[in-house]
Amino acid sequence: MTAAADVVRERAGAHAPTPRLGLVLGSGLGGLADAVQDAVAIPYAELPGFPVGSVAGHAGRLVLGTLAGTPVVVLQGRAHLYEGIAASELAVPVRTVRALGAESLVLTNAAGSLRAEVTPGRLMALSDHINLMGANPLMGPNDDALGPRFVGLGDAYDLELRAQLRAAAGAEGVELAEGVYLAVAGPSFETPAEIRAFRALGADAVGMSTVPEVIVARHAGLRVAAVSAITNLAEGLGDEVLSHEHTLVNAATAAKDLERVLTRFVADLAGAPAA
Ligand code: HPA
Repeated sequence: MTAAADVVRERAGAHAPTPRLGLVLGSGLGGLADAVQDAVAIPYAELPGFPVGSVAGHAGRLVLGTLAGTPVVVLQGRAHLYEGIAASELAVPVRTVRALGAESLVLTNAAGSLRAEVTPGRLMALSDHINLMGANPLMGPNDDALGPRFVGLGDAYDLELRAQLRAAAGAEGVELAEGVYLAVAGPSFETPAEIRAFRALGADAVGMSTVPEVIVARHAGLRVAAVSAITNLAEGLGDEVLSHEHTLVNAATAAKDLERVLTRFVADLAGAPAA
C-alpha cells in the first residue's frame, strides 16, 4: 500500500494537500467523485496491489483532490469478495488511504432494508455490523507496523462522525435512519428464510460489502462512518424481484440525497480543526 500511495503522491505532485478524509463510493454512488476539484484521478489498475472489480456501476479509480474545501481521497468503486477477490486484498485501498495521511474513512454502499418503514431511496447510517461473510481481511500474518494483531470493534462506527452525519442530514432536510448492517459474501441475494433469521439476529440492512473495509480501517487506526443507500426491501419483505439493475436504479435516487449529505458533512469538516 505504500507502493500505491507512492504512485498517488508522484502523480499528485509535491504540493497536493494531505487528504483529511477517505470516501468509498459504492454501487451507483460514484457521482460525488465528479464534484472533486483539482482532481487527480488514477485507475485502480495503475495502483500496485489494488484489487480491480468488474461490477457495473463501479468506476474503479482513486480521485485525490478537494471537496467542499476539504482535501479528500475518493475511492470511486470497490472490489467485492463475490468477485473472487480475497478479503486480505480488500485491505490495500483502505491502507493506501491511511498511508496518504487521512484520519477518517466514510464508506457508502447499496443495501437491502430489513425494516419495512425504511423504504428504497432512503439512507441509513451504520451504528454497528454483523459479519456473516465467512471471511476477515486481517486473517494471515499481522504486520505490527500497520496495526495490532487483535482489533477491538466495540466502537467501530465513530459516535462523533455519526453525530456529524446526522447534523449534515438534518441541515439538508434528508431523513437519516440508523441501524445494524449485516454483511453476506453474495453474489446471490438472500432467501426469505435468511432474511427472517437476520431480523432475529438484529440486522436492519443487508449488503455484500463495507465490513472488510471497516475492519481494516479500524486496524489502521482510521475513524469510520458508513452510510447505506437503501435500494430495496430485503427478500420476502416486498414484492419486487431483486436484481443488480434494480439496485442501480434505486441507488441513483438515494445518491442525490447522499451526495448532498456528504458534501455538507465534508464542508462542516473543513470548518472544523483537524482531529
Ligand atoms: N441484499 C444484499 N445486498 C444488497 C441488497 C440486498 O437485498 N440490495 C443491495 N445490495
